[in-house]
Amino acid sequence: MAGQGPQSAQELVRSFEALPAEFARELAELASEQEIRLLQARYLGKKGRATELMKSLGSIPQSDRPGVGLAANQTREAISRLVEARLAELAQAELAADLARAVDVTLPGRRRRRGGLHPLTLVRLEIERIFQGMGFEVRTGPWLESEWNNFDALNTPADHPARDMQDTFFVEGGQVLRSHTSPVQIRTMLAGPPPVKIIAPGDVFRRDDDATHTPMFPQCEGLHVDAAVSFEDLKATLITFVQRFFGPETHIRLRPSFFPFTEPSAEVDASCFACLGQPPERATCRLCKGTGWIEIGGAGMVHPNVFKAVGYDKYDVTGFAFGMGVSRMAMLRYGVADLRLFYENDLRFLRQFPAG
Ligand code: FA5
Repeated sequence: MAGQGPQSAQELVRSFEALPAEFARELAELASEQEIRLLQARYLGKKGRATELMKSLGSIPQSDRPGVGLAANQTREAISRLVEARLAELAQAELAADLARAVDVTLPGRRRRRGGLHPLTLVRLEIERIFQGMGFEVRTGPWLESEWNNFDALNTPADHPARDMQDTFFVEGGQVLRSHTSPVQIRTMLAGPPPVKIIAPGDVFRRDDDATHTPMFPQCEGLHVDAAVSFEDLKATLITFVQRFFGPETHIRLRPSFFPFTEPSAEVDASCFACLGQPPERATCRLCKGTGWIEIGGAGMVHPNVFKAVGYDKYDVTGFAFGMGVSRMAMLRYGVADLRLFYENDLRFLRQFPAG
């Protein structure tokens, strides 16, 4: 051994030959790859026992060196084989332990819950898809609006009740939280010349709070302005929409009404898609409460004063506009009795809707 003085070639060969057995004894005690690699280094590493033995090679006759070299190589190989075999054994044992711990393949799988779109989003997307199919572009506008866009330009004078503190949220600096999506009409017409054919979905705000009124609620505006847009076009558009949204049997009813920004104006009802307005089901229908009709929004022909406000020539163009309550549509579509459920984020409620 190194440090023990010169050895004969025979002694050196025997020392080499003895190493694997010694290594194997030490190896048998070890159970981790890290420990095994350290042991390997103690035999074959730079300062390892085999390397130290090699240092004695210089002190033996030239002719004996090949035999010693051969013994040295065989020792290195033997030790390396022992290491590989032991590591393979450990890996096997680990796998066996894993399998023993394992998995009852007959158990039912654990499902991952998928997130889904909110019912109000599902309804908005469906409304957008239907109107896009009729050539309407989708536009949006900000929640914080000027009073001019929200009221004045829409022919709603300063003394109109809708501007009352009771209904509208006024914000410091003379702005309002928009009380309807109609200011997007104004923004769109100010942004460019006719023709215009848009819908504008978005949230609006009013001082309202009960089962069918929430302080924030989504509306969807519609506006079509062109050279000869007629009331008939408005009706055709609304009928096509309700039939695609509620079903092909659906009709509409227009009731005379008043909005400052349309003339004539109408409330739009759709025939009840639950009872189809037919007796005897109609009498007990919870959706339409026996009337056969459900209200979905307001509509009318754009008032000439609105065209004036945005610089359109009332002799060049005509137009129709409508505004629908999107959460009311969702209520009808899904048979939900209280609008506030849509805003409570109760997963037991929300999970009942298709994932979207
Ligand atoms: C308007 O807001 C008009 N801007 C609609 C319009 C547009 C008319 C263009 C003509 C031309 P109204 O205030 O009726 O109209 O509201 C429209 C719809 O919003 C109602 O039919 C109803 O479905 C819904 N809605 C009104 N208030 C609430 C509320 N607090 N919560 C939920 N939905 C509401």
